[in-house]
Amino acid sequence: KRPAGAPDRALARPVTKIGVVGAGLMASQLALLFARQLMVPVVLTDIDQARVDKGVGYVHAEVDKLLQKGRISPDAANRTRALVTGSVSKEAFADADFVIEAVFEELNIKKQVFKEVEAIVSPECILATNTSSLSVTAMAADLEHPERLVGFHFFNPVAVMPLLEIVRAPKTDDAVLATAFELAKGLKKSAVLVKDAPAFVVNRLLLRLMGEVTAAFDEGTPADVADNSLRPMGLPMTPFVLGAMVGLPVAQHVQESLHAAFPDRFTVSRNLQKLLDHGVTSIWATQNGATEKGPDGKPFIPA
Ligand code: 3HC
Repeated sequence: KRPAGAPDRALARPVTKIGVVGAGLMASQLALLFARQLMVPVVLTDIDQARVDKGVGYVHAEVDKLLQKGRISPDAANRTRALVTGSVSKEAFADADFVIEAVFEELNIKKQVFKEVEAIVSPECILATNTSSLSVTAMAADLEHPERLVGFHFFNPVAVMPLLEIVRAPKTDDAVLATAFELAKGLKKSAVLVKDAPAFVVNRLLLRLMGEVTAAFDEGTPADVADNSLRPMGLPMTPFVLGAMVGLPVAQHVQESLHAAFPDRFTVSRNLQKLLDHGVTSIWATQNGATEKGPDGKPFIPA
């Protein structure tokens, strides 16, 4: 069954090689997913060799874990490992037909990335962004071919979270969208089509919860008490635990984007920023009481 609003699948174009810009946590999870589920070559790029090696190393380590658990055959494990390569040069995307970026959540950085990618890839190559909260329309604004950009928003941990938000910007063309839905099917994800609105749908819901927890923290309730009070609601992960997994700087960034878009509905926690300024990037640390001291050894005093 075609998802609501998806264009005719007959328009979908074949994808035979995928490029991933970035080799961080999200990017390397994406590389593994693409190689494992689609069995096509995937090339990861980043700004230096150490980051590239770390990203490819993550993929190999995860494949080893799958093999140990018997979740992948030795043959598929070997093929998956061989399909994922890394490069410090975006020239490696020259023959890719789908390139997705998962770099830092900053509009200008993403726009610069796409400018560099567009200078290398063919005019038919589809471009995708895994942004959590930035405007896909704004990202497409200076592209030579804005119709080729689509939002392809995954959730952490990519291997197990079933949902994928596919974001249509005003100029995204039907063939690009149809290809995105076909890819989602190959990746065994449930794709939904969402408008290009701030933080799309899922992060808006998550951030309302997170906003109330950080508000309680700002009011003086200890972080772990505020967070754990949501536990009886049966959430698989409470907001701060989720924040630790996706990275506190990312969570803070999404709070800021949503506050800018809807100031009456979304707050920005002054203590979240204080924690970051203090060098605490994971709230797991607060659950162990370590917010008392940052890496500099100085005490953390909530504002
Ligand atoms: N990478 C790969 N696989 C992982 C993983 C990871 N980081 N974490 C868990 N898994 C796998 C485990 O290996 C296990 O696989 P197996 O069955 O083959 O052994 C399977 O997931 C289940 O794991 P567990 O039994 O250890 O753990 P749980 O039952 O506690 O489930 C969870 C783990 C699925 C991660 C669950 O805690 C959960 O659903 N959490 C909520 C996650 C969520 O809400 N994510 C959205 C974050 S927001 C976001 O990403 C948006 C972005 O824009 C910021």
